[in-house]
Amino acid sequence: MKLIVGSILLAASVSAVPTKPVMLGTSGLRANLKARQSKVIPVVVGGPQDTFNPNAITAAVGDIVQFQFSNGNHTATQSTLEAPCTPLEGGINSGHIPFQDGQTDVGTFSMVVSGTDPIFMFCSTGPHCQEGQVMIINPTGPQQLLDFVKGAQGTDKSGEGTAIAGGTTSKIQLTNAAFVPAPPEAAGGGGPPGAPPAAPPAAPPAAENATETAPPAAEKPTETAPPAAERPTESAPAAAENTTTAAPAENTTAPEGKGKGKKRDTNRSPVFLPF
Ligand SMILES: *[C@@H]1O[C@H](CO)[C@@H](O)[C@H](O)[C@H]1NC(C)=O
Ligand SMILES: *[C@@H]1O[C@H](CO)[C@@H](O)[C@H](O)[C@H]1NC(C)=O
Ligand SMILES: *[C@@H]1O[C@H](CO)[C@@H](O)[C@H](O)[C@H]1NC(C)=O
Ligand SMILES: *[C@@H]1O[C@H](CO)[C@@H](O)[C@H](O)[C@H]1NC(C)=O
Repeated sequence: MKLIVGSILLAASVSAVPTKPVMLGTSGLRANLKARQSKVIPVVVGGPQDTFNPNAITAAVGDIVQFQFSNGNHTATQSTLEAPCTPLEGGINSGHIPFQDGQTDVGTFSMVVSGTDPIFMFCSTGPHCQEGQVMIINPTGPQQLLDFVKGAQGTDKSGEGTAIAGGTTSKIQLTNAAFVPAPPEAAGGGGPPGAPPAAPPAAPPAAENATETAPPAAEKPTETAPPAAERPTESAPAAAENTTTAAPAENTTAPEGKGKGKKRDTNRSPVFLPF
């Protein structure tokens, strides 16, 4: 799409345009908006969990979204709401940018926002997108993010982006990054190694009694999440609740506990809604 190709050019041209006094209502307003200082919005990719953090941001035209790549080997790749884990042809793509234990610098991918329409991004590594590693720049609202995450989780696999496009890669010092890396040996890419069989999918669909309709992921929408969102390594998801009930009530020859469980559900990415 041309909005990507044009993004950098646009930024360049905006700053190159000599500021001349503009009167008039709306057009003057718009000129003012464009003339305003663009800001850099950091987004942390990966880390202790396979996430974008934050996973929804509001950016003005000319702002720079700087993806900072934490633990793992992730991408920031553009897709669409309809095909969340498939690269948009000609879309933005950072390529795979790893972060390994001991690194003192951080790989980045910076893109200039050239429009106000939602931009859908995902990580094309392995099953990350199916785990919900997606984000939206300028979502229409919280529901769109929920829809996007759900759509991603419902896909079978991800498409691989091709060339780096729509932005530039660079490095920054780890000390200047918006994150603290996961501690070494922290199984940088998944849940705890010896994850027990995990309790059966809690909360049966409870037909009508939908008293607890908790939305899939949305855990406590952090109010107005600051862009930098410098959250220290989130402590491991301590076994949720008292699901110690694995008592073999009946004498069935254990038919379940087999491949019934879907993809590992343990480290499900939390969704932070900055609304
Ligand atoms: C990152 O992932 C890509 C794609 O799977 C792979 O080609 C590359 O070697 C990986 N890099 C590292 C450092 O693991
Ligand atoms: C919810 O379930 C309880 C127990 O199963 C039942 O007594 C109650 O009537 C149900 N409520 C609704 C709204 O269905
Ligand atoms: C979990 O179970 C233990 C032992 O049955 C009990 O002491 C504890 O209070 C329970 N915790 C919760 C949160 O229910
Ligand atoms: C479980 O089944 C076995 C073999 O069918 C039987 O010997 C045993 O008594 C059963 N135990 C219970 C608790 O039903």
